[in-house]
Amino acid sequence: MRSKTEHEYLLKAIDAFQRRLIVVSPDFTILAANCPTNDICESDMVGAKCHHVFHDRDSPCENCAVQEAKDSGKPTLSPQPLSSLDLGRIPCFYSYPIYSGDKLEALVSMDFDIPDSGSIQEKLQKANALLRNLILSAVDGVIAADKKGQILIFNEAASEVFGYTIDEALAELNICDIYPDDIAYEVMAKMRSDDYGGKDQLHSYQVDIAHKSGKRVPISLNAAIVYEKGQEIATIGFFHDLREKIQMQRELEKTQLQLLQSEKMASLGKLAAGVAHQLNNPLGGITLFAKLIMEEYELADGAKEDLNRILKDAERCRDTVKELLEFSRQTRYLMQPQNINQAINRTLFLIENQTLFHNIQIEKALAQSLPLVSVDIQQINHLFMNIILNAAQAMKGNGTLSICSFLTESEQQVRIEIADTGPGIPQHILPRIFEPFFTTKQEGEGTGLGLSLVYSIVENHGGTIRASSQVGDGTKFIIELPIRASETQGEDREQ
Ligand SMILES: Nc1ncnc2c1ncn2[C@@H]1O[C@H](COP(=O)(O)OP(=O)(O)OP(=O)(O)O)[C@@H](O)[C@H]1O
Ligand SMILES: [Mg+2]
Repeated sequence: MRSKTEHEYLLKAIDAFQRRLIVVSPDFTILAANCPTNDICESDMVGAKCHHVFHDRDSPCENCAVQEAKDSGKPTLSPQPLSSLDLGRIPCFYSYPIYSGDKLEALVSMDFDIPDSGSIQEKLQKANALLRNLILSAVDGVIAADKKGQILIFNEAASEVFGYTIDEALAELNICDIYPDDIAYEVMAKMRSDDYGGKDQLHSYQVDIAHKSGKRVPISLNAAIVYEKGQEIATIGFFHDLREKIQMQRELEKTQLQLLQSEKMASLGKLAAGVAHQLNNPLGGITLFAKLIMEEYELADGAKEDLNRILKDAERCRDTVKELLEFSRQTRYLMQPQNINQAINRTLFLIENQTLFHNIQIEKALAQSLPLVSVDIQQINHLFMNIILNAAQAMKGNGTLSICSFLTESEQQVRIEIADTGPGIPQHILPRIFEPFFTTKQEGEGTGLGLSLVYSIVENHGGTIRASSQVGDGTKFIIELPIRASETQGEDREQ
């Protein structure tokens, strides 16, 4: 039997015990509790359900140590899930049953947290660690600098955007160094003004920063001035790299342009087909009757000459009509696996001996062992011929023609690049060169159908073509053809 004094000391000891200790009945009603902190006191708890007092629940908690001790009849330890965000939560409970003879009379529940008085420092440390982790793992570059511009915080993402290692940035970088020219002062001035997201703040401000390599990187900046006790102590900036977004925008614009171009080509194709059909019959008549007159009548020399001119011009018209029909998809495509290098060589062989090519140096860099590409070889020859002829005409028969072929990185396409050292194409003309009938050549020298035909051939093969050119720096055509043609390619030629 314990003496009254012993009882009193024991009670005092339990109260002084820096862990929450409660006694609950088997139905979770609190029978007694100590008061280790000042947050909830014994008088508020006795008679209430423990899950209600501690967890604000109407029913017993899952994973409850008391429940487990009740079920098993043995002491249990129940760890509580602890995430780094649960900084103030009790991590674990210990519970054991109290028996009166065979009967379960009550259960003791004790938290296993570190005594509250000693936990503030730990919580602080946890909070700091969490903050540090948040900053380090942030997707955007985070940089904080003191008033002198010395870097205080520089995370991994910032390291990727700016090219400095974290150690380099912390040791030797000044915040002014990350902005080219005087942009640092501009950013600070904007941050202090009210007009860019509120005073001392900057919201989604687009600016170029200076990468370690000297390259400029477009970013979107959110920044703020940090105060402590009313004193400005630092600035913090969140740098969102815009390179990928800008690249995607460009791709989108390019695709939209290509789409527009294809639509234009499709409707012009129909028009061209109609015109070509209408012209074919009268042209046949002109040629036929001109020939008949030549054969059946005694003609003066002058008249013969005139008739010959009629025949020649009619022939030119026929050629143009033929090109129009090609362009408007009136011929059948025969898709077969072909060696693209061979097609290039064949085209070169055909034209090399023409006078226009005598003073043109031809440089070839054709990749060995290219896979065969499913194409209509006649159309592909036509394609190379048109581009090469244009190049030779642009160089006025003098310069270098470079042709290379290789497999793209994805190994799904063959890329062919044809470059010349001609005068180049002015920027305002460049977007128009694939348009039907667009030509800068003198009347009679070009129909302006060459490149539009090339464009529709490439499109019918499911490929892409673009030209890059700078005035004075030559022109390069870049063609990509898929190695395998899709089911529908070439079929629409029979429409
Ligand atoms: N390699 C090049 N260098 C400079 N300009 C070029 C080059 N290729 C094409 N061009 C420009 O693009 C225009 C359109 O070319 P396209 O082949 O469609 O027609 P064309 O050569 O003028 O006439 P055609 O091909 O019917 O004889 C040309 O008139 C020229 O201004
Ligand atoms: Mg041409």
